[in-house]
Amino acid sequence: MSKLVVKGGATLSGSVRVQGAKNSALPILAASIISGGESVIHNCPDISDVDDALEILRYLGCRARRDKTKVTVDSSELARTDIPEELMCRMRGSVLFLGALVARAGEAKISAPGGCRLGPRPVDLHLRALRAIGIDASENEGSVRCRCAEYNGGLVFLPIPSVGATENAMAAASRARGTTVIVNAAREPEICDLACYLSKLGVRVFGAGSSTVTIEGRKTLNKAAEHRLIPDRIAAATYLCCAAAAGGKAELRNVCVLDICPVIRALREMGCEISRRRDSLTIVSKGKLRAHGGIVTGPYPAFPTDAQPPLMAASVLAEGSSVFTETVFEKRYRHVPELIKLGADIEVEGKRALVRGVNSLRGCELKAEDLRGGAALATAALRAEGETVISGFEYVKRGYEGFGRTLSELGAQVVEID
Ligand code: EPZ
Repeated sequence: MSKLVVKGGATLSGSVRVQGAKNSALPILAASIISGGESVIHNCPDISDVDDALEILRYLGCRARRDKTKVTVDSSELARTDIPEELMCRMRGSVLFLGALVARAGEAKISAPGGCRLGPRPVDLHLRALRAIGIDASENEGSVRCRCAEYNGGLVFLPIPSVGATENAMAAASRARGTTVIVNAAREPEICDLACYLSKLGVRVFGAGSSTVTIEGRKTLNKAAEHRLIPDRIAAATYLCCAAAAGGKAELRNVCVLDICPVIRALREMGCEISRRRDSLTIVSKGKLRAHGGIVTGPYPAFPTDAQPPLMAASVLAEGSSVFTETVFEKRYRHVPELIKLGADIEVEGKRALVRGVNSLRGCELKAEDLRGGAALATAALRAEGETVISGFEYVKRGYEGFGRTLSELGAQVVEID
């Protein structure tokens, strides 16, 4: 059990480097089994979700080792094509091994993936995509079995631009006999990062980042690939919200500014000054924030659902009221009752949350229920009077590399306790 202890009141100052993207690392580590060679992945964040992905790779028979943020995977030996519940249940990203296993071995058997409880998180679109390119995919009580030595590729239509289903389809399509077109594909930057990695294996991918992605499958792929992950846009957004909430001045290095425009826009509406110098952002937050004009989360390039909790935390002390509309996940307000314990005034009705700014927050004991919600509790605690103890902090360690250390480097009074 991990805890984060926050002593509120310190303003932030300093400069920190933002980690590599968790949601790039997971699909790319899964895809590293496709070629049967050695992949070197740079800028890989030191987080427990990546540790779990490496454990799955080793279970499958790969050699996987980490040297700080460099991860090397040798997938020449593949001993298994099944992943047991004990490994699948730890994160949502485990489902991304499905398409890669079929591409490599023509079969796969996995149990239901885990992941933050944000409402129903079915895999029906993943199966729909695999079936559309000729793969026999069946599901029984959460377990998924795929079998198909040869498949031609085809037209995949996603009714929802699902990130994971797009990634599984791209991985599986990389070894199809023909061409696959994914219509209504997810457009997230992590999709482009996966496409960039696949192209280094020799797969021809067109249109990544748009709603239509075309993949020309190839039977023989390059054996080796070296890739550097993009910066983690959600980690960057989270630390911007921390600085906005705590006040002060902070520089974030290794940021892809284009990936977080909606978050920057909202924080500027709240009165923060945010400036850019190459791949660094500097945020200045002085005095009382103003309520932003309302945010609606949605698939990229809309406001990212993963940044909704931290921005809400930064909004609870703002002057005025702000409305959040969460359209991606059904239950993504699990942080609200905990923020209310701190003294926030928030009303949730269906997809909408109305945040009325209050004048102060008071530290207390809180419990993180999911990854981004846990980060939101820490964000709000930075401005709470007194001490806040956040249990369930292992959720946050799934996706943030050295969250407590990063905030400490910026001058916050926080301590991580294992
Ligand atoms: C990815 O989850 C991310 N996780 C999530 O980040 C992120 O919030 C989400 O994309 C949206 O951007 C990883 O990349 C590991 P989806 P994913 O499939 O792929 C429904 C974080 O905090 N859906 O785009 O699971 C689903 O229920 C995590 O880093 C189906 O109905 O998201 C949801 O309502 C949280 N059937 C919507 O689509 C399916 O088969 C979007 O889900 C798949 C999804």
